Amino acid sequence: MEICYTVAEVRKQVKEWKKEGLTIGFVPTMGYLHEGHKSLMEEARKENDKVVVSIFVNPMQFGPTEDLESYPRDLKKDAALCKEVGVDLIFHPEPEEMYPEGFCSYVDMNGLTTELCGKSRPIHFRGVQTVVLKLFHIVCPDNAYFGQKDAQQLAVIKRMVKDLSVDITIHGCPIIREQDGLAKSSRNTYLNEEERQAALILSKSLALGKQMIAEGEKDAATIKKAIADKIETEPLAKIDYVDVVDFATITPIDQIAGETLVAIAVYIGKTRLIDNFIVEA
Ligand code: PAJ
Repeated sequence: MEICYTVAEVRKQVKEWKKEGLTIGFVPTMGYLHEGHKSLMEEARKENDKVVVSIFVNPMQFGPTEDLESYPRDLKKDAALCKEVGVDLIFHPEPEEMYPEGFCSYVDMNGLTTELCGKSRPIHFRGVQTVVLKLFHIVCPDNAYFGQKDAQQLAVIKRMVKDLSVDITIHGCPIIREQDGLAKSSRNTYLNEEERQAALILSKSLALGKQMIAEGEKDAATIKKAIADKIETEPLAKIDYVDVVDFATITPIDQIAGETLVAIAVYIGKTRLIDNFIVEA
């Protein structure tokens, strides 16, 4: 397994693989890898000749008051996990390599990015789209893998690829959870013991919403209220949003119909956690 730090190094390797007619699977990450990332890497490993993982804590997608500086990093451990899965190449650039002096081009979107996380993180998706499209141009993969954990991000990337005629197949992969239900996240490391327990309210409240839908409830407001009420039983939890939207367009809906995303963002202490489920009505 090779670790590359520059765009030129990655390009050289990718060109050689392409000359041999090999397919490339790509998993973009910000590192501090866990079982969620691993599941994407394993999927990529199964479906492609070569697998590339990027590890880059992308400054452009963090707001000025967010956790860019404290975001956890551990390249040595990440590299060991990548090796175990059979990753062929890690791309680990410095911010200056991705955003050289004078950088001023961005990828942006009207719609899809205004709801859910876009409300409290107004510049987030512009940063995500810009870095992901840049990474796509560097790695030139046939397939790219994203987790449903970040469902809005997945919808945004699918839309971007369609709108900008990017010839890469986007694969959405299921949410990997801890045994007690908490969705795996690099940010879970911020939680102290008491908060870690309190964080279970996210998956528990979503389970309640899921059950209501399974029992025939279709009214979005009723489902949202039940989820919010459940979250509010946890004293350490503060709701950012509880929303029901159409998954493809990320627009709010009144009645469950088609592919529906039920998504929540909740502060547990100072840590903002997200979780969701998708139902096909
Ligand atoms: P990061 O948070 O590191 O996540 C990288 C990928 O892993 C994303 O596609 C995310 O949805 C997926 N993932 C994280 N936790 C998961 C879980 N519990 N189950 C399944 N998949 C999970 O998302 C980003 O990085 C960045 O925004 C990035 C796309 C790399 C652009 O900077």
